[in-house]
Amino acid sequence: MGFPEELEYLRQQTPLTEQVAQSVRARGLDGLRVAFSVHLDIKTVPVLEAVQDAGAQILVVTCNPATVRDEVCDYLRARGAGVRAWAGMSDRDWEDSFRWALEQGPPYLCEMGAELATRAARQPSLAGAVRAAMEATGTGIQRLRGLNLTFPVLDWNALSLKEGLHNRYLVGLVTWTTFLEVARVTLYGKRVLVVGYGPVGQGVAEYARLLGAVPVVAELAPDRQLLACHAGCEVASLEDALPTAHVVVTATGRERVLREEHFHLLRDGAFLLNVGHSNRELDTDALRRHPTRRLRTHVEEVRLPGRRVYLLAGGAMFNLAAGPGDPYDAFDLTSALMLAGLDHLFQHGHRYPPGLHPMPREVELKVASLAARMARAGP
Ligand SMILES: NC(=O)c1ccc[n+]([C@@H]2O[C@H](COP(=O)([O-])OP(=O)(O)OC[C@H]3O[C@@H](n4cnc5c(N)ncnc54)[C@H](O)[C@@H]3O)[C@@H](O)[C@H]2O)c1
Repeated sequence: MGFPEELEYLRQQTPLTEQVAQSVRARGLDGLRVAFSVHLDIKTVPVLEAVQDAGAQILVVTCNPATVRDEVCDYLRARGAGVRAWAGMSDRDWEDSFRWALEQGPPYLCEMGAELATRAARQPSLAGAVRAAMEATGTGIQRLRGLNLTFPVLDWNALSLKEGLHNRYLVGLVTWTTFLEVARVTLYGKRVLVVGYGPVGQGVAEYARLLGAVPVVAELAPDRQLLACHAGCEVASLEDALPTAHVVVTATGRERVLREEHFHLLRDGAFLLNVGHSNRELDTDALRRHPTRRLRTHVEEVRLPGRRVYLLAGGAMFNLAAGPGDPYDAFDLTSALMLAGLDHLFQHGHRYPPGLHPMPREVELKVASLAARMARAGP
């Protein structure tokens, strides 16, 4: 199946997004310019083209080179978007892409990971034209805290449907369907160590249990340790849990959470994967100082003294980098919410004072009631 057919199929599975897109197109965004730093897989296309079709000019860079699909970039370019991203781009090219986007003075930013907003905050000459931004990830919000922002940023990640449904359920489900495919190994009877028990870690642990695993949680925050206990997970320190874990999943959004000293605690044959936003959550530079070889697509064997472990998808966001990504119908709610958040940003963003602000709840209530109506209407 070619890209146009796949896109048509995606549109058929995302009617909610199309409904929100219709209202954005009807209102029109003529003359508006916006820079996106997002995952460039096919699921992002309906949001980007809705904004374009409403009359806006869009600049597009990636929030993660590991999730870029070239056919998506080509498609957006052919529709007149400015795109600076390609699969396998170097760190240097990636860094240049942010400068390229900011130097064109976009008044609005829409991001996953705050790469543009953090650079604009640190270098005010790059922030000159920015009127307002929207950030869609917990990691991005974390990166923005404490920075001297000269423009408002709306925190879309904190919407209860985003955290509660997308982070909590979708990532957990797709992590394991992808794992079965990539590793060709089941979870029955395996100890799965989840590092970080936010909504993402909670979903990963829960779906692992449904597939027969024993979930073990390493988490710094005591309230979330308690949540893990109540959900029936074992809770342990990283150091205590690593030696018996068959599979280790990082879900903290921080960098270098698993480092050289941790790798030597792993059992022989352990699998390592990451679903947090940063590709550096597992210290892959340290891992690759040991002999490595690729055994199958997205599976690298790393020979540590006395043991070998398997690094999946090079430590990049596993569910997006190593598999087909989120199911289209479930992502429909996410992309509809994103479009509704953008609509709010374009209409009202400039009225907020500089700094971080929660996305108003009415944005998600509007989308939720539309979704509930569609669900009730049935086939
Ligand atoms: N893979 C995906 O498709 C996908 C989708 C949504 C979000 N994310 C990303 O997943 C990450 C987690 O998201 P979330 O919503 O659960 O975030 P969160 O911030 O609510 O949870 C992260 C948890 O990790 C804990 N933590 C931090 N450092 C730790 C350490 N060294 N050891 C143990 N625990 C530690 C924190 O205390 C926190 O409870 C973020 O980076 C987010 O952007 C990924």
